[in-house]
Amino acid sequence: MQPLKMTEVALSGKRVLIREDLNVPLKDGVITSDTRIRAAIPTLRLALDAGAKVLIMAHLGRPEEGVEAARFSLAPVAKRLAELLEFPVPLLTNWIEGDNGDWGDMALCENVRFLKGEKANGEALSQRMAALCDVYIMDAFGCSHRAHASTHGVARFAPQACAGLLLSDELEALHRALDEPARPLIAVVGGAKVSSKLEGLSALSSVVDGLVVGGGIANTFLAAKGYAVGRSLMEIDLLKAASTLMEKLEREERSFPLPEDVVVAKEFSAEANAQIKAVDEVAVDEMILDIGPASAKHLADLLAEAGTIVWNGPVGAFELAPFASGSKTIAQAIAKSPAFSVAGGGDTLAAIEKFGVTDDISYISTGGGAFLEFLEGKELPAVSMLEQRAQELK
Ligand code: 3PG
Repeated sequence: MQPLKMTEVALSGKRVLIREDLNVPLKDGVITSDTRIRAAIPTLRLALDAGAKVLIMAHLGRPEEGVEAARFSLAPVAKRLAELLEFPVPLLTNWIEGDNGDWGDMALCENVRFLKGEKANGEALSQRMAALCDVYIMDAFGCSHRAHASTHGVARFAPQACAGLLLSDELEALHRALDEPARPLIAVVGGAKVSSKLEGLSALSSVVDGLVVGGGIANTFLAAKGYAVGRSLMEIDLLKAASTLMEKLEREERSFPLPEDVVVAKEFSAEANAQIKAVDEVAVDEMILDIGPASAKHLADLLAEAGTIVWNGPVGAFELAPFASGSKTIAQAIAKSPAFSVAGGGDTLAAIEKFGVTDDISYISTGGGAFLEFLEGKELPAVSMLEQRAQELK
């Protein structure tokens, strides 16, 4: 059962409570990327245009529950929302008490994580949130893996509960990529640690036609194959798990191309003397910090032939110029490929922006942890609750 969509619900004259993921990066109180705020705009605009009275709930960071710390205030977000919507968006501090005076047609509630009971999905708090609305719209895909009062509990008690445009789009893109993929389906999983992505790799290994690993993750697999990886980032206690996964992929004839050449250096720095080496030539005092050009070319050819690509994590230390080439080639190959491509995760988005391929990726997810949990095949509790509410309507 699919969640009800906001487009299927009458919103005119209704009190609408929308949960968005507006957890944006801030530096000295200034928003450094407003991507998540922009992604929320179509849902907010649709609710406003439909004639609803809109309250927005969101969190920022991970404040101590019950403590209203100024650095976790959503004030800069309210300002940015008002600019993008060209509509007043006051920030309400006592919103849960319901005594905010006349705030107009749209307002942003102060950080939900200031409230006791939010993270514990408290029933009393969920009911108080639900009492603020006629319709609850869950639009925060990036928080859909959290069973919190504002993402899950409130949906249980609200008179009506449905999915916003962003959440619906995210789910549709991910289902298209993983449940009904055009073949071959290639997953590119990079990043520092196998431990943080082992479940994802394992779930993907049952559905993909090819699995490409990079970064510290690839080093652990190389070590498990018996290559000397010098001082490279690697997780020794996961060598067995890496071997088991490789055996499974081989048994099931899924392609698993490990780097044949790598970029190494003795120090992790932008001034490091980087060298390209065959994968079996890494010295004891060297670190693998990127895939080499031959490997990158080989992977780019594979991606050109893909029907679907799922991308999470860069294949090297792309933030440092000497080690950015591999991730750049992969980003450009995904962008050029005719495949339906879905990318997600903080570092991945940074790489997409850096290499200027934003417009050429079919779908860029706003989710970090939620994107990963979807790849892991886990249930997203906020989505399950919406599905349950839709089921009750049958
Ligand atoms: C994110 O940044 O991935 C989401 O906003 C969820 O934040 P959280 O990990 O603090 O729950």
